Amino acid sequence: MLFPTFLAFTFCSQVLAIWPAPQSISNGSAVLWIEPSVKVTYNIKNAYNAPENWGFTSSSIVEPAISRALQTLFQNNLVPWKLVARNTLSSIEPSANAPRTYITHLDITQTAPDKTFKPLAGEVDESYNLTISKSGEAQISAVSAYGVLHGLQTFIQLFYQHSTNHGIYTNLAPVSIIDAPKFPHRGLNLDVSRNWFPKADILRTIDGLSWNKLNRLHLHMTDSQSWPMDIPALPLLAQKGAYQIRLSYSPADIQEIQTYGVQRGVEIIIEFDMPGHTTAIGLGYPDLVAAFEAHPWPDYCAEPPCGTLQLNNSATAPFMEALFGDVLPRVAPYSSYFHTGGDEVNQNAYLLDPTVKSSDAAVIGPLIQKLVDENHARIRAAGLAPIVWEEMLLDWNLTLGKDVVVQTWLSDASVAAVTAAGHKALVGNYDFWYLDCGHGDWLNVPNGPAFQENYPFNDYCSPVKNWRLIYSYDPLSGVPAAQHDLVLGGEVHMWSEQTDPVNLDDMVWPRASAAGEVLWSGRQDASGQNRSQISAGPRLAEMRERMVNLGVRVGPVQMVFCTQHDATECSPS
Ligand SMILES: *[C@@H]1O[C@H](CO)[C@@H](O)[C@H](O)[C@H]1NC(C)=O
Ligand SMILES: *[C@@H]1O[C@H](CO)[C@@H](O)[C@H](O)[C@H]1NC(C)=O
Ligand SMILES: *[C@@H]1O[C@H](CO)[C@@H](O)[C@H](O)[C@H]1NC(C)=O
Ligand SMILES: *[C@@H]1O[C@H](CO)[C@@H](O)[C@H](O)[C@H]1NC(C)=O
Ligand SMILES: *[C@@H]1O[C@H](CO)[C@@H](O)[C@H](O)[C@H]1NC(C)=O
Repeated sequence: MLFPTFLAFTFCSQVLAIWPAPQSISNGSAVLWIEPSVKVTYNIKNAYNAPENWGFTSSSIVEPAISRALQTLFQNNLVPWKLVARNTLSSIEPSANAPRTYITHLDITQTAPDKTFKPLAGEVDESYNLTISKSGEAQISAVSAYGVLHGLQTFIQLFYQHSTNHGIYTNLAPVSIIDAPKFPHRGLNLDVSRNWFPKADILRTIDGLSWNKLNRLHLHMTDSQSWPMDIPALPLLAQKGAYQIRLSYSPADIQEIQTYGVQRGVEIIIEFDMPGHTTAIGLGYPDLVAAFEAHPWPDYCAEPPCGTLQLNNSATAPFMEALFGDVLPRVAPYSSYFHTGGDEVNQNAYLLDPTVKSSDAAVIGPLIQKLVDENHARIRAAGLAPIVWEEMLLDWNLTLGKDVVVQTWLSDASVAAVTAAGHKALVGNYDFWYLDCGHGDWLNVPNGPAFQENYPFNDYCSPVKNWRLIYSYDPLSGVPAAQHDLVLGGEVHMWSEQTDPVNLDDMVWPRASAAGEVLWSGRQDASGQNRSQISAGPRLAEMRERMVNLGVRVGPVQMVFCTQHDATECSPS
């Protein structure tokens, strides 16, 4: 059996460019062609074993995925000229006149009925096997529909478009792949509050996630700057809190986004960040927010505008009841998680809360505990599991249910502290996995002493976390082996103070792909060695070309000189 690391050291004429790297793969070098008339079969017909998911069946998920895969193979495929030495395509492409062997059929076998399409981490077996024989029989077998979808993504990546006759071929037959993810939670956190993102941008991002075998899109839905989600029970939230009336997601939009995700194996997780980061609530419901747009803002919040939920206001509980009563029934058919935020609560702001008038953690802590307990009880009653930011556990020492997933961002020590407390953890250390960093500060600095102090206007987490750094991050670093199972996976974070639809693709990709391979394949390869940029670079460059062909504007991984040469040619010595 060959492993991808071995293949990486062959000259770059078509390295086996599967992204993320499968757990194991062996291949030959025979040519097979494939045509749109290829017969594709799928053994499950309308099995309906997921009653909590309205309307979804195994075949209603797999059959459209087959159509999309065929569309990609035949309409958006890749002539790999950037990936082979200058003017040598003809040496790797099959001769157009030689007799052809075709892939006659692709048989897809799902070995078990689906239990759910909104899994908790680990609830769905996403593994798959893929074989293509030299004579042209292709098979994907998987335990679940989502395993089938991953197998189809890998299948697509084995094929190229011929530069002259436009036929679609592979030159890797026979192929045998056994694959499964290392971590069950592989996500992107997209902040849709700091800037407005139309639905189409979110759907395109879900596409990109699914191609990279990423399976979670966490929408940081609300923050101090805007509330872009319609809550019919509390209409002023979006009417006053969106950046502009109608720049908000209607219930139909949310349902469409969630359905789109379910169909692609990407679970949408919505976050309402609280009790901090809630100024936008105060635009429609001013009595609920303390320290509203308070100045000087650094005294009361991490970034302007300040505002934090009043914690001892008798109107807060009915508001939460209305909010969660509205949203939970809408998201529950499509997601098993709801994120209640909890980062960066500013104690000082509670001096300005007329219902608290104290910055003492001993006063504030129990009030936060009560808020979190009540909201988590609502989330559980709707059949979902809560997620919180790490501060709720590690700074405020809240007592959290064992079902609560704790999302870390500050350090590896945080991950270790969360698992030491027996909680499930998500990683996303901001020194490695923050996509916003390094683009400079977004605050305007006046002339005078502040100008000198802030020069050269770096942001708080500069420099840029480039794909190589993201790729170097080991989600398990610092976690004792006995607690590895508590690390569900992680998310890269797209905080959007300086990102909107114009630069979204380029900010997210290909860096989210790099995290995707860490989360799917693991930081180490099958032999226990760290995965290498020398192996990853050419494969990521190829993945980039495939994504561009599918309409996602991913920035280049390397200049063409590098992608046309052995990966060691563009290395430090
Ligand atoms: C597998 O494919 C690579 C090209 O990516 C090729 O160099 C290698 O020879 C193939 N393996 C076998 C056993 O043919
Ligand atoms: C994939 O292949 C492995 C090894 O042969 C086997 O153990 C596993 O059951 C297969 N999985 C499926 C879904 O066929
Ligand atoms: C919360 O409000 C109640 C009723 O106004 C008051 O009795 C109580 O002291 C307040 N608690 C705190 C911690 O301020
Ligand atoms: C939480 O516990 C830590 C460690 O024991 C302590 O340093 C911190 O002050 C506590 N926080 C609160 C709000 O009590
Ligand atoms: C492997 O990568 C980790 C970071 O993920 C790094 O700390 C370690 O030094 C690397 N090991 C080797 C042998 O390069």
